[in-house]
Amino acid sequence: MKQPMHLCLLPLAALTLFSGTAQATPTLTGDRPLVISHRGASGYLPEESIQAYQLAMRMGADYIEGDVYLTADNKAVMLHDGTLNATTNVVAYAATHPDIAALRSANGSYDVTKFTLAQLRQLSVTCRNANGYCTDKTYFDAGQSYTFASYSDFLDLAYNNYLATGIAIGVFPEAKQGGLAVAEAILAGLTDTKYNGYFTTAGRALTQSFDATQVSYLNANSAIPVSYLGACPTTAAAAAQVAAIADGIGPSTGQLSAACVNAAHGAGLSVIPYTYLNNPSTYASAYNLGVDGVFTNFPDIAASVRDQVFGPETPVPEPHSVALLGLGLAGLGVFRKRKQA
Ligand code: G3P
Repeated sequence: MKQPMHLCLLPLAALTLFSGTAQATPTLTGDRPLVISHRGASGYLPEESIQAYQLAMRMGADYIEGDVYLTADNKAVMLHDGTLNATTNVVAYAATHPDIAALRSANGSYDVTKFTLAQLRQLSVTCRNANGYCTDKTYFDAGQSYTFASYSDFLDLAYNNYLATGIAIGVFPEAKQGGLAVAEAILAGLTDTKYNGYFTTAGRALTQSFDATQVSYLNANSAIPVSYLGACPTTAAAAAQVAAIADGIGPSTGQLSAACVNAAHGAGLSVIPYTYLNNPSTYASAYNLGVDGVFTNFPDIAASVRDQVFGPETPVPEPHSVALLGLGLAGLGVFRKRKQA
């Protein structure tokens, strides 16, 4: 039987010592809500680019979130829209590349499913012209080309960061394209043996979709907790219906309410609303309602307000880090002995 989502969050929560005095309603974990960086640190850098995910991890996100489509050559890639027009340089690039221009639809759109991964890698990711995306240019470099990410790149970022630092950051892929093939691809990536069980360890991966059929598939075919993106249930009966196919609910910020949190928690569902931007008071409100996490374009703000509400956290190294520390100390001892000799 699958472990409830809130229980799966416990190992990650257990990595911190909670020293503050919580003013907020406790979450189901009894600990701090998760900071989930929506499309990477998309408030600062082009969404779903390698650099946006890297910045999110540096800013203290617990999870990096991104959307998954399949390409013409059946590769899973990270993109929110079905088309490339709003978040890549495809239009300008096509002007000098006839093979790319040939992929243009009659309405002017470039559908990601017509591209191969190799063609997508020729493009740069650009800032979406919308509120909350690249609105803070502190980290943005106009002279830099921002890198398109495959789903494999996305997973590699979290896994390689863990190998390098011992800090376990999770991933939260969303099946964006219709059909079950993309859900299958999401699970195949998370269970790839090259990650040595990293993403199947509790607290390292969550999945999500707006599509109930995809949610049901993800729920039935994996122990990894899945979140259903949809209207927030406010009654026990409605929450039980969601709990039949999912481990969590992902309502929009406008749908969040105390009734929703209470009903969802009563059914064992986590509540992770989307999407928070750069207004600190909105985070405080959500935390005080007892949400289990927030999707945010500004992970640094989400983490900062979390510290204000719950008190600062004190990281505790994982066994992996402790082992590295032990090796380092042992190496230092050897070095000292050699010096003495
Ligand atoms: O995944 C939560 C939230 O991201 C849903 O909205 O449009 O970004 O997929 P969207």
